[in-house]
Amino acid sequence: MKLSVIYHSASGNTARMAQVIAEGMKLVPGVEARAFSIDAVDPDFARESRCIVAGCPTYVADTSAAMHQWLEKEMGKLDLPGKLGGAFATAQYIHGGGELVIQALLDHMLTMGMVVYSGGGSKGRPVIHLGPVAIAEAGDVEALMEFDDTFRIYGQRMAEKAVALFG
Ligand SMILES: Cc1cc2nc3c(=O)[nH]c(=O)nc-3n(C[C@H](O)[C@H](O)[C@H](O)COP(=O)(O)O)c2cc1C
Repeated sequence: MKLSVIYHSASGNTARMAQVIAEGMKLVPGVEARAFSIDAVDPDFARESRCIVAGCPTYVADTSAAMHQWLEKEMGKLDLPGKLGGAFATAQYIHGGGELVIQALLDHMLTMGMVVYSGGGSKGRPVIHLGPVAIAEAGDVEALMEFDDTFRIYGQRMAEKAVALFG
């Protein structure tokens, strides 16, 4: 089963965390997961994906403009209705608006007819209510690494749900 992680990243933080989510997805047997920048999506792979997780950096407590544009103009071409959707964000500050980004991404997915999921509090620790947020200044890989386990587990949970629904 194919799963896609699609992201915008200007300075690499979100790209790195997208790869960690894909790594977590691949821990689930039968899952083929790939991460794509919004400017290099493999449309066939994404259309065939049962689950799409989207993520971007937080810009002024909102989605980055590039991501917003992609959501409006490109995402709808990926056969979205009925697919499982999830969202993540990166931000520099813990109170910088990362969860607002996730909420905006999930709202967009709901609007496109997707079935959104995170696991919420039902999976125990780490508790991930809406989706994971990694906090780091641009290019601070050491700070990002603190979030790797949570992002990997999030990817695994999304893949397990995709397999339970569609496998
Ligand atoms: C134009 C701009 C606006 C930003 N606004 C916020 C913000 O409102 N809140 C926040 O926590 N971080 C903000 N940041 C920091 C980035 O969200 C953060 O460093 C992110 O991880 C960068 O991701 P990237 O390396 O994938 O581009 C901003 C960065 C830029 C360039």
